Amino acid sequence: MKAILLDGFGGPEVMHAGEAETPVADPGQVLIRVAATSVNRPDVVQRQGNYNPPPGDSEILGLEVAGTIETLGDGVSGWQPGDRVMALIGGGGYAEYAVAHASHLIPIPENLDFNQAACICETYLTAFLNLFRLAGLADGDKVLLHGGGGGVNTAAIQLCRQLVPDSTIFVTASTGKLDGVRELGAHHVIDYRESAFEEEVARITGKKGVDVILDHIGAKYLQPNMRSLAVYGRLVIIGVTSGPKAELNLALMMVKRQQVIGSVLRPRSVADKAAIIADFRERVMGHFADGSIAPLVSHVFPLEEAAEAHRTMESSAHFGKIVLTM
Ligand SMILES: NC(=O)c1ccc[n+]([C@@H]2O[C@H](COP(=O)([O-])OP(=O)(O)OC[C@H]3O[C@@H](n4cnc5c(N)ncnc54)[C@H](OP(=O)(O)O)[C@@H]3O)[C@@H](O)[C@H]2O)c1
Repeated sequence: MKAILLDGFGGPEVMHAGEAETPVADPGQVLIRVAATSVNRPDVVQRQGNYNPPPGDSEILGLEVAGTIETLGDGVSGWQPGDRVMALIGGGGYAEYAVAHASHLIPIPENLDFNQAACICETYLTAFLNLFRLAGLADGDKVLLHGGGGGVNTAAIQLCRQLVPDSTIFVTASTGKLDGVRELGAHHVIDYRESAFEEEVARITGKKGVDVILDHIGAKYLQPNMRSLAVYGRLVIIGVTSGPKAELNLALMMVKRQQVIGSVLRPRSVADKAAIIADFRERVMGHFADGSIAPLVSHVFPLEEAAEAHRTMESSAHFGKIVLTM
């Protein structure tokens, strides 16, 4: 099959289109004929050599796909060849065929095309898991999302608007993305390059802070995040783009009864991911089917131009998701 292969680790130039062996669905899995996949920031980190796939998962990049079921592995029921599906996968999306556990499939609503459906599994599931299942975001809460123009955080804004409509959404973004973030439904938009976000959060909340923060910046933002967190606040860290080590005032955290939660989706067990996906199907998929949430496709590239797609992500030219089509 056609796939994107790596000549070692490094910049986008290490990626090239080539031939790989078509995978086979093991018991409990299905083989998907991929119509589209999307680029996630962890793909860039994997390409650079800093994020290995979990044991047993494909070495090929790509964490989510949309397409049609080609074959069923032993023991799979409830799905048929030809079904339109999207899937969360541990790797292997940048290819003509990919395998997925049957419990990690979601039927594609009729109103969505494959490009849109390829933007949901990794991205919205990450936002959903961390904001709702781990941080327990509830109506009435104030939530701060960093990097509101990216894949995960455009999804996070949409989920907050639909699942907790009485929450107040604070978003940091760079200058060119402020209007887009506002249009998605953010209440307070902070240009993080022009002002210190913790000062804005303190000013707007009367120094009370926010209840939940979703962060992928890591070290550089730990202290301003903690200063922006309310009593009983929850900080969820899903990335460390500025570095992994920083100092934390444990006494203050204890006195304010705060929680710092580290979280990754990819290495979780098959059963754990299945439980998250079942919850997501029940609580979120109706919003895609009725159009109240629509995936944001920013750029579309043919699979062969995966290197260009990565350059686009690394230059942060996108707002929402970058899609690769077959
Ligand atoms: N733990 C998990 O399970 C998991 C799963 C998926 C993704 N992730 C992580 O989540 C993060 C987002 O992934 P993604 O695929 O959504 O990437 P993305 O589309 O590139 O989004 C990242 C966003 O962050 C913004 N940004 C960069 N520096 C910033 C700063 N200092 N303050 C605020 N915003 C900043 C970027 O925009 P500007 O450059 O224009 O500011 C961009 O919009 C990545 O770190 C990724 O590794 C974690």
